[in-house]
Amino acid sequence: MTAHILGIETSCDETAAAVIKDGRWILSNVVATQMDLHAQYGGVFPEIASRQHILSIMPVIRQAMGEAQVTWDDLDAVAVVYGPGLPGSLLVGVNVAKGLALGRDLPLVGINHIEAHILTNWLAINGEPPPIEFPLVCLIVSGGHSELVLMRSFGQYERLGGTIDDAAGEAFDKVGRLLGLPYPGGPAIEQTARDGNPAAFSLPRAWLRGTYDFSFSGLKTAVLHVVQKYEAQPPKPRPGGTRRKLSMPAALVRPLPVANLAASFQAAVVDVLAEKTRQAASEFEVRCVLLAGGVAANQTLCRSVRERLDVPVYCPPPDLCTDNATGVGVAGYHALRGGRVSDWDLDVLPGLRLA
Ligand code: KG4
Ligand code: ZN
Repeated sequence: MTAHILGIETSCDETAAAVIKDGRWILSNVVATQMDLHAQYGGVFPEIASRQHILSIMPVIRQAMGEAQVTWDDLDAVAVVYGPGLPGSLLVGVNVAKGLALGRDLPLVGINHIEAHILTNWLAINGEPPPIEFPLVCLIVSGGHSELVLMRSFGQYERLGGTIDDAAGEAFDKVGRLLGLPYPGGPAIEQTARDGNPAAFSLPRAWLRGTYDFSFSGLKTAVLHVVQKYEAQPPKPRPGGTRRKLSMPAALVRPLPVANLAASFQAAVVDVLAEKTRQAASEFEVRCVLLAGGVAANQTLCRSVRERLDVPVYCPPPDLCTDNATGVGVAGYHALRGGRVSDWDLDVLPGLRLA
């Protein structure tokens, strides 16, 4: 089946559209990031995100179709992420997709955002579609999700485990803030960690043995305690008095070893993610392993998973790990092939799960 799918993604703070041919070939991939708008708040500001999606969505779609050199007549379906994500952001993409599909008499296909991340792995990069074989284990690690999933074929997902508190990307973002690094914390920590020693601080790993679950909140608190030890505490205000500014003698204020702390934190996260992925791959005797989601852009993570496994490990290029619409086009292709087309009452599901 030959098919050109327009993929649309507005689940968080990227307005994205892509045209994908046959679930493999990227004809265009346009992402309008809102990162600078949200950086001043240290995280995504939902109302600002949805307003910006409204402004960007049509120019982004027009650009994607222009770069792909396709007209509406060339398209076979409009695929759009309907969850999980921010409700107001998802609403923009879903309603625009409905309007376009209805107006152009095209099938509408609702796509799970997590599935889109996973299926990005099937795209041909440098002209070669990767020879992915089932069964496989996929580690999905993003700002909102951290899950290990067993996949036996397209559309068949068995959840092996996931985070019981923070998602891996959330932990990167929160620790980035503690270390005074710019938002988002993930890429900033990876960059800073390059100059650091991953063994400088012995930080805890929550193994949660006997499960494929993760927990990162203890690790985050451990980093906070290190930061507090290094920081000069401001004096407490005296009862009834005003806060008096004391200047700490320079010799008493130890500078925070940001690079070492970033490297040690990253090593702790990667250790747990990579080891649990190895265990799952071994237990289920899979033929390959996939990484997906924003944190999969982390090269230390990819390297560490590859080092521990003797089956092929696939990971999209970093710019396709973070939110974009290419995987939406791949997922739309497989849904269309399987006859899974959405009705016109498709609604957003902010808490949608994969399995
Ligand atoms: O998949 P994504 O773009 O959005 C969600 O679906 O959440 O993931 C964003 C997350 C952020 O938490 C960001 O800090 C993290 O991915 N991230 C990284 C890296 N690049 C992005 N984390 C670690 N290392 C990176 N290089
Ligand atoms: Zn995502």
